[in-house]
Amino acid sequence: MANVMILCFSLLLTSLLLQGVHSTTFTFKNRCKFTVWPGILTGAGTAPLSITGFELRSNASLAIPVPQKWSGRFWARQGCSNDTTRRLSCQSADCGSGLLQCNNAGAIPPATLVEVTLNGADGKDFYDISNVDGFNLPVSIVPQGLNGTNCSSVSCSANINSRCPREL
Ligand SMILES: *[C@@H]1O[C@H](CO)[C@@H](O)[C@H](O)[C@H]1NC(C)=O
Ligand SMILES: *[C@@H]1O[C@H](CO)[C@@H](O)[C@H](O)[C@H]1NC(C)=O
Ligand SMILES: *[C@@H]1O[C@H](CO)[C@@H](O)[C@H](O)[C@H]1NC(C)=O
Ligand SMILES: *[C@@H]1O[C@H](CO)[C@@H](O)[C@H](O)[C@H]1NC(C)=O
Repeated sequence: MANVMILCFSLLLTSLLLQGVHSTTFTFKNRCKFTVWPGILTGAGTAPLSITGFELRSNASLAIPVPQKWSGRFWARQGCSNDTTRRLSCQSADCGSGLLQCNNAGAIPPATLVEVTLNGADGKDFYDISNVDGFNLPVSIVPQGLNGTNCSSVSCSANINSRCPREL
């Protein structure tokens, strides 16, 4: 397993086979020294989760049960506060909803993204960390019991924004 201790925002992906039925849980853990506000965006084609955003204090964790078939992404909003009009706004990875819930809005770049597909092609589970929208916080994924081969922890711990070509 990767050394998740140095990382800030981590996702524990746990899948258990109980009585022939797979049940999967996403456990979000905040290892940052500050509060983060994770956002969740469900992809087209699977039912959205009931939660699309929440507050996670330093060292806190939250476990969310996920349907057998699900696809979507997560990120951690940082530096959020209510502005004078009582809209929630964040210094990075804001989803623009003005609320704790992102309500089907994605992150405004730069944002480190965690992408997960459960029960995708051939019944396999897929996960990755994407910097297609840049980087805002270090992130790690620790999988447990997924249906696949060689499912190892992945992480992105360095800010790669400054190395991106200017036009990106
Ligand atoms: C989080 O946990 C670390 C290590 O156990 C501890 O040093 C730190 O004070 C905790 N932070 C908060 C905000 O509780
Ligand atoms: C924003 O306001 C709501 C409603 O009063 C409150 O629950 C929440 O904690 C506030 N968020 C922040 C980041 O201050
Ligand atoms: C796990 O993956 C295998 C091979 O891709 C597939 O045949 C099987 O149906 C999957 N099992 C579950 C419970 O998704
Ligand atoms: C599993 O992952 C490790 C580390 O990335 C790699 O060295 C190894 O070749 C992989 N094994 C298979 C069977 O894919």
